[in-house]
Amino acid sequence: MNSLAAIPATTSGGVPILILREGAKETKGREAQRNNIMAAKLIAEIVKSSLGPRGMDKMLVDTLGDVTITNDGATILKEIDVQHPAAKMMVEISKSTDNEVGDGTTSAVVLGGALIEKAEELINKDVHPTIIVDGYRKASAKAIEILNKISEKINANDRTWLLKIAKTSMQTKLVSREAQELADVVVDAISQVAEEINGTFKVDIDDVKVEKKAGGSMRDTKMIKGIVLDKEVVHGGMPKRVEKAKIALLNAPLEIEKTEFEAKINISSPEQMKMFLDEENRMLKAMVDKVTGTGANVMICQKGIDDIAQHYLAKANILAVRRVKESDMNKLAKATKGRVVTNIEDLTENDLGAADLVEERKVETDKWVFIEGCKHPKAVTILVRGGSQRVVDEAERSLHDALMVTKDVLEKPAIVAGGGAPEAYAAARLTEWATGLSGREQLAVQKFAEALETIPLTLAENTGMDPIDTLTELRAKQSKGEKWTGVDVRNSKVANMHKSDVVEPLAVKEQIIKSATEAACMLLRIDDVIASSKPKEPAGPPGGGMGGMGGMGEM
Ligand SMILES: Nc1ncnc2c1ncn2[C@@H]1O[C@H](COP(=O)(O)OP(=O)(O)O)[C@@H](O)[C@H]1O
Ligand SMILES: [Mg+2]
Repeated sequence: MNSLAAIPATTSGGVPILILREGAKETKGREAQRNNIMAAKLIAEIVKSSLGPRGMDKMLVDTLGDVTITNDGATILKEIDVQHPAAKMMVEISKSTDNEVGDGTTSAVVLGGALIEKAEELINKDVHPTIIVDGYRKASAKAIEILNKISEKINANDRTWLLKIAKTSMQTKLVSREAQELADVVVDAISQVAEEINGTFKVDIDDVKVEKKAGGSMRDTKMIKGIVLDKEVVHGGMPKRVEKAKIALLNAPLEIEKTEFEAKINISSPEQMKMFLDEENRMLKAMVDKVTGTGANVMICQKGIDDIAQHYLAKANILAVRRVKESDMNKLAKATKGRVVTNIEDLTENDLGAADLVEERKVETDKWVFIEGCKHPKAVTILVRGGSQRVVDEAERSLHDALMVTKDVLEKPAIVAGGGAPEAYAAARLTEWATGLSGREQLAVQKFAEALETIPLTLAENTGMDPIDTLTELRAKQSKGEKWTGVDVRNSKVANMHKSDVVEPLAVKEQIIKSATEAACMLLRIDDVIASSKPKEPAGPPGGGMGGMGGMGEM
């Protein structure tokens, strides 16, 4: 290691020039590259075994001892606390893929790791990283072009395609046995919220609310046309069912606000005490009157509701719910076409939302409020059920992926087959194409093609098939023009994945390549890592400055 701080740069007067703060570390050239490459490969290695339907799950325990069981790449990497800056970049790949398309997060990290591993082989042969980066960028563009060419346009109104896509995404998860039933729910939900504008679809994924409750079986998971709040009606005397609901949405407490400063009120007689309480009472009653005055029969409040206010609301026959999440308030406003009012004085009849039915129902041991038949029908809730908390947690994550792929394919109706078929096909075409390029760039493109083959290879490996034999068979079959031939994981053989209904959105495959290439190229261009030291803690134990980026050198 070489520290800038220690470089013997001196002024003519012989005074050393210090550039970095004391304790900062700099790693340069080959060493910096090697460390980064190592860290990136390790991250890819962590998620690799969870790729595909036979992928294993990870059990993650956080600092508080909470356990998460998942095989979702993005979730695994979100939960583990990585230190190394290059490892963090790998985590970013999964995040960006998750944000853009929602699925393919494991594949993106596996591909990113493979790209870096292959680049390392070239670096060891003295190919300069910038040449590799240029080659990778070209290869990435070409691969996307190839995928576009082989992709199949589908009719977005054709439900069977949407079901196949949703099912493929869920087959790789804990919920695989219920994939068929859940795919139905997912496609129902997305179809309900999709908006068609001039023949193209637009989906706002926030219109689909996912609520989960442990208990029952996963098959009980269902879609509700409306919004479900995991809250109960606040007062026993209130109605539990209101038809033709007129809903006041309030982001203000129905409570007497406590003063910020300490104040003392001297009360010297019981009469005074009574007057004081009466005044509070009167103020709360006035608030409730304001609500009832608008003609509302349901009130949903983001803040608290005082006991006395509850009593008056109950007397006025209003169904009230309190302490509702802000995100839910916004969803409610959109769904019922009401307005969230922050000052109770401003509430008018025009601000009320509407729904056919608001009802409190029992979900396991809890009581939840269902708002159905909303004015704006593009709001739905999926109520996830399953044996235990961990199961519903993972089911929720899997549903997220499935909802996203269904949205992806609705918005961009083109598909490719799964099981590593498109990756293997693109790899073969890239290798052919590379022969027309100049010497060193050709090497980089070839390495890119090899990296793409990691996807079918890993699927085979995770299934217990012989990876090399599988790849050879795959290449041979594809060279005869069977472009949809991939690794059929469920039957442990090389087969036509399109026929087995394993299909994925083109958008996901494109994004996997984009995210992985971007991160790999960014990482390969780094030849200098300068890590600041942590500011000294006032009275830390000796050697307490450990960790942070200081641990980097050990990677
Ligand atoms: N039945 C199947 N046979 C073979 N491969 C499959 C099957 N179902 C899904 N896959 C493949 O599994 C990969 C996705 O695995 P997954 O664990 O969901 O990771 P990711 O986070 O990348 O989506 C894709 O390449 C997909 O084509
Ligand atoms: Mg997936």
